[in-house]
Amino acid sequence: MYRTHHCGALNKSFIGKTVTLSGWVQNNRDFGKLTFIDLRDRFGITQIVFNEEEQEILSKEARQLGREFVIQIEGTVIERSNKNLNIPTGEIEIAANTLKIISKSETPPFTIIDETDGSEELRLKHRYLDIRRPIMRDRLITRAKMVQIIRAYLDQKEFVEIETPTFIKSTPEGARDFLVPSRLHQGQFYALPQSPQILKQLLMVSGMDRYYQIVKCYRDEDFRGDRQPEFTQVDCEMSFVHQEDVLQMFEGLTKKVFQEIKSISLPDFQRISFHDAMKYYGSDKPDLRFDCKIIEIQDSLPATEFAVFNQTIANKGIIAGLNAKGCAAYTRKQLDHLTDFVKEPHRGLQGLVWIRWNDEGIKSSVDKFFSAEQLEAILKLFNAEKGDLILIAAEKASKVRKSLGDLRLELAKQNQWYQENQYSVLWVIDFPLFEEDEDTGETIFMHHPFCMPHENDLQYLENEPLKVKGQLYDLVINGNEVLSGSIRIHDKALQDRIFKILGMSETEIENKFGFMVNAFKYGAPPHGGCAFGLDRWVLLLTGGDTIRDVIAFPKSSNGKDMMMDAPTFVDIKQLDELGIQIKSKP
Ligand code: AMO
Repeated sequence: MYRTHHCGALNKSFIGKTVTLSGWVQNNRDFGKLTFIDLRDRFGITQIVFNEEEQEILSKEARQLGREFVIQIEGTVIERSNKNLNIPTGEIEIAANTLKIISKSETPPFTIIDETDGSEELRLKHRYLDIRRPIMRDRLITRAKMVQIIRAYLDQKEFVEIETPTFIKSTPEGARDFLVPSRLHQGQFYALPQSPQILKQLLMVSGMDRYYQIVKCYRDEDFRGDRQPEFTQVDCEMSFVHQEDVLQMFEGLTKKVFQEIKSISLPDFQRISFHDAMKYYGSDKPDLRFDCKIIEIQDSLPATEFAVFNQTIANKGIIAGLNAKGCAAYTRKQLDHLTDFVKEPHRGLQGLVWIRWNDEGIKSSVDKFFSAEQLEAILKLFNAEKGDLILIAAEKASKVRKSLGDLRLELAKQNQWYQENQYSVLWVIDFPLFEEDEDTGETIFMHHPFCMPHENDLQYLENEPLKVKGQLYDLVINGNEVLSGSIRIHDKALQDRIFKILGMSETEIENKFGFMVNAFKYGAPPHGGCAFGLDRWVLLLTGGDTIRDVIAFPKSSNGKDMMMDAPTFVDIKQLDELGIQIKSKP
């Protein structure tokens, strides 16, 4: 027997008992006659003491133990003189009688503590060591608990967990597919699912009524902190439902998870339309832990000679700004930094007008063009008070909104406008069904091509498709899109109309989605659903910097598995079997 208890189990009620523990040496402290070892396992840390006067040879051996050695000890639980009330085992220690080294360890490349000295690269390379750190261990345990709660909830609501294949035909989630070459059918490829979207819809056609799956999805897209090429969705679908039924179901699930994991009782979720989210917060995933709305002022501005504003109005752009409450003390350097921030190429503003109102009065970057009265009038448009800083941008609407949306988040970060453990959870609804591809100008789908348009907008489908709103919804937590879903089209004729608007020919529809279109000929129920991004959700509930922190073995920020060193070149023989020749190696 390796152990009678784990390293987090013992307390004062065990005093006098003989126990056996196994675990890793967290540290080794030599106090002359006494040697202390902190023994660690997944459950906690227990202090072991070796007394030289009683156990001379054992103490000598104990002094030699290095960090991360795996050992087994047998000993007696005794009361500690120097108690540590911060840990459950802190009032006792084990006076060791025997010591066995199970396996030795080289000195680990970084310290196995929460505040480690290891870089992320090093930690990813030695992920098995990284996961020994309590902070990582706890995140994975919380993740597992969340999955249990989710399963229990969905099970209780009569969802059936059904697995779907991972070698499939391309699915239309808008990213690039990862491909798997077929040996048996040379020159042909499977695609790894970007999501089980079509398959879950087919399960509704099968009459399964309610489906879910906690499932890996694969997308070959550009990296960001909240993206991984393989990530996990809680993927769900329901039959005979309207949008309201789906929102209620998954609002319920979200509340339950918050309650059980964080002991937070969330109020009913606010709902905001895509249109308002963009207009007031410059984002389709607004962070509403703080206010700071974007206020448009182009229709209320006093007439001046300021060319930037006048040209913007002439070009049908917008002039809008933020009231950064309490930020009038920003220095010129800080203001320059904000200006540089909105001028970064992906935001693309030419500059930022600022007006600050502090003890010395009202000062602005446009004093040359605006009289004191005019500035005061502008301040009024923002409900400004003494102490506030107003930041204004003038450009085409999309640029202004994006820049001010980002600026709003930057200001919140700089001024800590939210607290740890504060959550804003909301639905964004009424997304447009289509959008315009910025590069090609083509009409493309916003979410995927199976989303149901709002009934009242069907009339605009062919002639003004960009005006059509869809029965689409996202769940946003603290400015992160954590869930996305929609009511689906279950009518073949309407689905055909949508494919046509997306510019697909009959042959293309047949090639890509023939199997789905065919299925819909045999009686499809009305259905809808959604998918949570599990990794993002776990991150929000456990903390961490990126979703890598809540995934046991993630890819690095450039798509590599640092531990296994994947992807790698493969043997020429393997390629030959697949009938594949590499065009060029870097
Ligand atoms: P969508 O593509 O919006 O919808 O994905 C659903 C949720 O998955 C998460 N997510 C990601 N998480 C980590 N890394 C990624 N690369 C990544 N991409 C997406 C997000 C997102 O909200 N089939 C539809 C769902 C449906 O309509 O039912 C779908 O996949 O949190």
